[in-house]
Order: sequence, then C-alpha cells, then structure tokens
Amino acid sequence: MPSVTLEEIGRHFGDVKAVDRVNLSVAHGEFVTLLGPSGCGKTTTLRMVAGLERNDTGRVSIGGRVVSDARVGLFVPPDLRQLGMVFQSYAIWPHMTVFDNVAYPLRVRRATKAEIRDKVTAALRLVEMERFADRPAPALSGGQQQRVAIARALVFEPEVLLLDEPLSNLDARLRAQMGDEFRALQRRLKITTLYVTHDQEEAMALSDRIVVMQQGRILQIGAPETVYHRPASRAVAAFFGTPNMIAAKVAACQPTDDGDYMLAVEGAAWQGRCRAAERFGRDEAVLVVVRPENVILAAPDTPARDGHIAWSGHIVDGIFRGPHRSIAAEAGGMRFHIEAPATRPVSIGEAVTLSVATDNVWAVRA
Ligand SMILES: Nc1ncnc2c1ncn2[C@@H]1O[C@H](COP(=O)(O)OP(=O)(O)OP(=O)(O)O)[C@@H](O)[C@H]1O
Ligand SMILES: [Mg+2]
Repeated sequence: MPSVTLEEIGRHFGDVKAVDRVNLSVAHGEFVTLLGPSGCGKTTTLRMVAGLERNDTGRVSIGGRVVSDARVGLFVPPDLRQLGMVFQSYAIWPHMTVFDNVAYPLRVRRATKAEIRDKVTAALRLVEMERFADRPAPALSGGQQQRVAIARALVFEPEVLLLDEPLSNLDARLRAQMGDEFRALQRRLKITTLYVTHDQEEAMALSDRIVVMQQGRILQIGAPETVYHRPASRAVAAFFGTPNMIAAKVAACQPTDDGDYMLAVEGAAWQGRCRAAERFGRDEAVLVVVRPENVILAAPDTPARDGHIAWSGHIVDGIFRGPHRSIAAEAGGMRFHIEAPATRPVSIGEAVTLSVATDNVWAVRA
C-alpha cells in the first residue's frame, strides 16, 4: 500500500504556479527525494503533504487516508496527520535541554511521564545522542543539533517523515557523514521518507527514487541510476553534473531486446551508435549525452574500437581536483569536459583520441 499519494496536486501564489499537477506515490518504507533548482516547488509540495499549505487542486493521501481533497474542501490539519518533520533551520528550542526538545511532541500529545522517558531515551539512542540528554540545546555542534531535530521528528513514531534540506547548514564533510547515518537509520526503521534537496549528490546517495522537478512540474521519476544514466530529457541530463551534449541526427533506429532503442547517429564529421528510451525517426535531431567520466583518452589516431564513438582532438586545459583530473579537450569542433584519473599527466596542446562506448552514450530529444 502506498504510504503517501499525491494526485494532481497544485498550488499557485498569485500568477505563480508554484506546483502544477504533481502525481507521486511513495511506497511504505521508501525514501523518495524531490530534487530541483531553487523555486521549482519542492518546499511547497512538502508543505502540502504536511498540511502547512493547502493544495488548491488535487488530493493528498497518507497511509491510505485522504487528508486533503481540494475538490470537496476536505483538509486535515498538520497535527492530525501523524508526520515527523525536519526543516532546514532545525528549530530546536534554545531554552530547553536536549531531552525536553525531543520530549516536546509527546507532551503535546499528552503522553505519560514514564512513556516520555522511555521514548525520548530510545529516540536519543537511535541518533547516538543519549549522553547529551541534559545539555542545553545551544551547547551542541550543528551536526548534533541536527540529530536532535531528527530524534524529535521520530519520537512519536510517525507514519511518514518529511525533511526539507535538513543537512544544508552543515559543512561538506559533516553533511556527507550525517547523510549516510540518516540513510542507515531510515533503512533500519523502514520509515517512509519524503526528502527535499537541491543537492544532486545528496539525492543520489540517499534515495530509492528521485523526483526531478522544474517550474512546479515533475520532469522524471526514477532510481538514482536511472535519472543519471537514462535522463528523459535534456533538462534532466543537464541537472546532474556537466555532461557533454553533442548535436547529432538520427540515421537509423531499432528497438532492443531490453525495451530501449539503438540509434545510428551522425554528427559533424563523426558517426556512431547510442541508446535512447524513445523511438526516433530518420533525420530527427537529437542530443547525444556523454558523461565526463565515460570519455576515454587514447593516443592520437587510435582507430575506434567496435561499438565506440571516437573524435580526434587536443587537450586545452587540465585541472587537478584531488580524486580526479578535469580535462578540457577540443575535438570535432566541440569542447569536451573529461574526468580522468588524477594520475594522468596532461600537457596543453597534446593530441588525443577521445572515445566513448556505445553503452555509455545516451540520446535525448534536441
Ligand atoms: N507564500 C508564498 N507566497 C508567494 N509565493 C510563494 C510562496 N511560497 C512559495 N512561493 C513561490 O512558489 C515557488 C516555489 O517555491 P518553493 O519554496 O516551493 O521552491 P523550492 O523548490 O523549495 O526552492 P528552494 O530550493 O529555493 O527552497 C517560488 O516561485 C516561490 O517564490
Ligand atoms: Mg525550499
């Protein structure tokens, strides 16, 4: 049974369609992330699930129960939706201890003293903050405050956890560490989670599925590998990293056994084969998406291996980035971004052959 279902939900502010007919179904125990640029409607969507914002079209259901239906004017307020929430500013209360912060949702629900003690202790143990129970909240690091906010969201065992950029105030190292810990906790508790971020790496690392949004609409929903390697459109491809997008036209199109299409494509002075999710007609314009990490650099005039597309060119820039080296090369009248091992030496002007395997080339509509 889906744990959260959004059917055609929308919300406008004046002329701005903040969210435009969004449909989404989150399964029990699933971790789903709304990802997209600033202003695309992520927070508004989450707030409609929470009941902090009213949807002006469509219907929201949680755990099989309709909690908001614009058509019939049904609206269940936030405190009756059994949701745990963590927002960007963790909003833990500075005048309270860690214990009292986490106890708050239980006190509001009039839990007994014994129940509060047991549940708060258990929630703090989950986030490994037990020994900080008596500390005043301000005497904690950002990451510790974050954990307190998560404990407070979990303490009343909500059906669904909603998180809006909960890690954005942390430095990069702590963000990665907290992200991994949070993911492990979520898997252990099998808690249905709807998460918001504009950070693509965070979304890929945490999620079972990613919902890519733009201007209030969903562009694509899929597993991290799917939205990364098999983007449905140019916009989705461009959202993850800095792919090379090469103009080409279709010479032939054949369905494959696994439900894709194999295209023969032709560009300016090059040709080759690639995969696509949809059928294209002869001479249709496509963009061939090549990820920087999939470009292979070889000696000049290396013949293209079977199933590879190759271009001759030369290196114009190389930047050492620690784990890898970013290389820019000009080939076939285009400028390529390449991610090579950091150990590869570069010399500007060096002649090279760039190649990429058919399975690592993906075409989208131009
Ligand atoms: N209360 C409001 N009144 C007027 N406009 C609003 C209101 N809340 C949101 N908007 C507008 O709705 C659109 C979506 O906003 P939203 O906060 O959902 O974006 P977001 O994807 O969460 O962005 P960010 O990544 O910057 O947090 C924006 O254009 C925003 O200006
Ligand atoms: Mg937001």
